[in-house]
Amino acid sequence: MAQPLVMMSSIRKQFGPVLANDDVSVTVNAGEVLALLGENGAGKSTLMKILYGFYAADAGTIRISGQPVSFSSPREAMAAGIGMVFQQFSLIPALSVLENLLAALPDAPWLQPRGSTKVRAALRWLTRLAPEIDPNRAVRTLSVGERQLVELAKVLNLDARVVILDEPTSVLTPAETERLYGFIKTLTSEGKAVVLITHKLADIAACADHIVVMRGGKIVDEAPARDRTPGSLVEAMVGRGVAGSLPPPSSPPTDVPLLQVRGLSADIQGRKIRDVSFELAPGEILGIAGVSGNGQFTLAESLAGLVPALAGDVVLDGVSIASRVEDGAISGDVAYVPERPLDNAVVADLDLALNLALRDVRQLDFFPDRKAAFRRAHELISRYDIRPPQPTLAASALSGGNLQKLVIARELSGRVRLVIACYPTMGLDVLATQAVYREMFRQATEDACVVWISEELDDLLSYAHRIAVIHAGEIMGITRREAADRRTLGRWMAGHAMIEAA
Ligand SMILES: Nc1ncnc2c1ncn2[C@@H]1O[C@H](COP(=O)(O)OP(=O)(O)OP(=O)(O)O)[C@@H](O)[C@H]1O
Ligand SMILES: [Mg+2]
Repeated sequence: MAQPLVMMSSIRKQFGPVLANDDVSVTVNAGEVLALLGENGAGKSTLMKILYGFYAADAGTIRISGQPVSFSSPREAMAAGIGMVFQQFSLIPALSVLENLLAALPDAPWLQPRGSTKVRAALRWLTRLAPEIDPNRAVRTLSVGERQLVELAKVLNLDARVVILDEPTSVLTPAETERLYGFIKTLTSEGKAVVLITHKLADIAACADHIVVMRGGKIVDEAPARDRTPGSLVEAMVGRGVAGSLPPPSSPPTDVPLLQVRGLSADIQGRKIRDVSFELAPGEILGIAGVSGNGQFTLAESLAGLVPALAGDVVLDGVSIASRVEDGAISGDVAYVPERPLDNAVVADLDLALNLALRDVRQLDFFPDRKAAFRRAHELISRYDIRPPQPTLAASALSGGNLQKLVIARELSGRVRLVIACYPTMGLDVLATQAVYREMFRQATEDACVVWISEELDDLLSYAHRIAVIHAGEIMGITRREAADRRTLGRWMAGHAMIEAA
C-alpha cells in the first residue's frame, strides 16, 4: 500500500497553561483534501504550523512519505514540499506582487532579470490564479481577497506537494471562492495533498475528501466527508446542538436620519470612493455588499473619520464628523471594526486588558487605571468567550477567531451611535458568529445605526434592513431587504448601476 504523504503521530504542543495540541494524530494522503475543522482556539492552526516547521512540537513525530522528519524552520519544511498560506498574511506590503513571489524563493534574490526562468514560473502561477492582478502592483494596494490569492501563488511557486490553507475562503468573494475550489481540485488531481482549515460547511461540501474535527486541542471526530452531515459536524465542533438562525432585527422606529453621508469622496493610496450618499435612521442596519477591493476599506475609514474627505460630508446626529481626522482618534460614539484586525485594530504586544481599553485611551490620559482595565477585561472576556480567558496574555497569543472577538468586544460594548463593521464574523465559528450578530443587532435596537460591510450575502439578505452594493468606489444601487434579489445584486456587483429607484 502507498505510504500516506504526511503522517503526524501523537503531536503535543503546550503554550504556558494552554494545551493547544493534545496527542493529535492525522494522516494526509496524496490526491486528497483533508478538511480540518473546529471551534475558535481548537488548535487547528497550531497543528499545521508544526507541520510547516513554524513551531516545534513538544512531543510526537512527523513522517513525510514514510520518512521521519524534524523541521526546525519553515524553510526546511518548504524544502520537503510543505507549503502554508497563513490565516494572518505574511506578504511584504511595500514590495510588488512579483517581488513577493520571488523573495520567497530560498535561493533567489528578489531582483531578477526580466524574463528569467524564475520570473516566468512565478508569472505563470499568477496568471493561473489571479490573471486580473498586475504583478507590478504593490501588495499594500491589494484587497484582502487578492492578497490571499497572491499568498497561494507564492506557496505553489515554491513547489509545495502539501498545500495547507488556513481559512482561505473567509476573505474571498463567492467568485474567488469558486475559483479556489477549482484550483484545489486541480491540485489534488495532480497528486498534491491539500489541508483546508475552515469554518464553512460550504467548503466541505465543495471539496473535502476526509474530515478531522478538533476541540480543546484534541481530535473529536474523524471520517470520510461523505459519512458526515452538516448538522453532525456542527455538533462535533461545538460539542452540542446549535439553535437555528437569529430572528431578523425589527424595523427602525423612525425615518428621521441619524447618519447622513453626502457626496462623500476619498482616496487611500489609489483606492477611491466617489460621491457616496446615503442616510440611515436610528436602529437601521445597512449592508454593504460587493466584491472586496471595490472601495470598502476607504469607505469604512472615511466614515470613521480616519482619512480626510476629498469632497462631501458625514453628519452624525447633526454634527459633521468628516473633519474629525484632525483629532487623530475615532470619536467615542463611533464603533469601528476594521478589516484585518491584527494590522489595524490591536497592538499585538500589548496584553488583552490594555487592548480592550484602547478605545478609552483619550479619556484615561494614556494611562488606563490597571485595576479598572482588568475588571472590564474579565467582564468582556467572559461575555465574548475569548479564550484563553487571561487578561495578561499578549494579543499576539490569541487564535485568529479569538483576536476577532477581542476587537468586536472592545468596539461593540460601549454606548455608540454609529457602528462600522467590516467583515465582523471573519474567521469565527458558528457560535461566535451568532454572538457577534447578536451584539451588533443589540446596538441597533439601542438606536445606533449600523454600516455592515460583508461578503456573506446570505447573512445580509437575512438581517440587513437595506443592502447597498459598492463597485469601483461607487454605490451601484440600494434596496430594501424585502425587495432584494440575488440577480440584481449580482448585476450591481458586476458594475451595472441601478436603473430605477427601489
Ligand atoms: N504563540 C502562541 N502563544 C500562546 N498561546 C498560543 C499561541 N498560539 C496559539 N496559542 C493558543 O493555542 C490555542 C490554539 O490556537 P490555534 O491558533 O491553534 O487555534 P485555531 O483552532 O486555529 O483557532 P481559530 O479558528 O480561532 O483560528 C489557543 O488557545 C491559542 O490561544
Ligand atoms: Mg486558526
